[in-house]
Amino acid sequence: MPAPQTLTLRRPDDWHLHLRDGAMLADVVPHTAARFARAIIMPNLKPPVTTVDQATAYRERILAAVPADVDFTPLMTLYLTDNTSAGEVTRAKDSGIVFGVKLYPAGATTHSDAGVTDVRHTYKALEAMQTAGLPLLVHGEATDPAVDVFDREAVFIEQTLIPLLKDFPELKVVFEHITTADAVALVREAGDQVGATVTPQHILMNRNALFQGGIRPHHYCLPVLKRERHRKAIMDVLAEGHPRFFLGTDSAPHPKGAKESACGCAGIYSAHGAIELYAEAFEQAGALAHLEAFASLNGPRFYGLPVNEDRITLVKQDWEVPGEYPLGGETVVPLRAGEKIGWRLG
Ligand code: DOR
Ligand code: ZN
Repeated sequence: MPAPQTLTLRRPDDWHLHLRDGAMLADVVPHTAARFARAIIMPNLKPPVTTVDQATAYRERILAAVPADVDFTPLMTLYLTDNTSAGEVTRAKDSGIVFGVKLYPAGATTHSDAGVTDVRHTYKALEAMQTAGLPLLVHGEATDPAVDVFDREAVFIEQTLIPLLKDFPELKVVFEHITTADAVALVREAGDQVGATVTPQHILMNRNALFQGGIRPHHYCLPVLKRERHRKAIMDVLAEGHPRFFLGTDSAPHPKGAKESACGCAGIYSAHGAIELYAEAFEQAGALAHLEAFASLNGPRFYGLPVNEDRITLVKQDWEVPGEYPLGGETVVPLRAGEKIGWRLG
């Protein structure tokens, strides 16, 4: 039997990750640290990470959960509010541990109630970010409840993102977890000012996965999965090797019971097999040659950081994902629970 196909990549980074806090950290950090050298850590804790002091303390708690035999660097972010001051932005840049500021429109998603009620309230902070060269990381969904849930990204682009890019032409913006052809077009046209992260779920699944034989709470995330034509538009731009799209899992663990509920939380856990899942998606699209740039080169270039020097190896071999992983005394149901992933870490 011939040896299975292998793929060696410069070690990747995850440019959008939820690690949570407390007892959950010890369960989720090792999954990410086994694959990625660095990750941009989302600040939507309760209470949110709004100051450099909070980010510094959170960073220490994350580092304490990194296994002794691996190197992993958390890249911290601040949670933008209507009250974020220009001074806090400058302190963030000077700290050397904060790499972005996250915009959650208030009410858009998990723990976003402290988010921004009107982008105009944040203009002082955005000005300071533009001056300091600190990127704005955007959850791009309109929050008006009258807007159809599948149209929220497209409406956000028109109503909020395009005006914001005009008002701050030097501000670097990461359009996080894009889900639509509209977002792909915006990023293509915006030029070097805008990059985008792409999750594994938004290139492996379309919205049918939410209703496959019944309602599937573990496929529910925000922005919600979209139609096939949108999934294809995202995969097509990645298969082209476009340099401003990069890996950001949005891995977002919630306890099983909080997902399998009458009002289930948004979030898909993918840290246990993230780079393997992307390898599957790129392979299906005949685009494995572009996986390394997406996973390991485009993100550092956009953030102005060095690339990683070590390598990982992926082996084309099925493995079965457990039904659950421990999560701080409870459990999380991972993406592909009880099913196979076609690539494994070497
Ligand atoms: O599905 C999501 N889960 N989308 C988000 O924007 C937040 C995340 C979470 O924190 O659970
Ligand atoms: Zn997220």
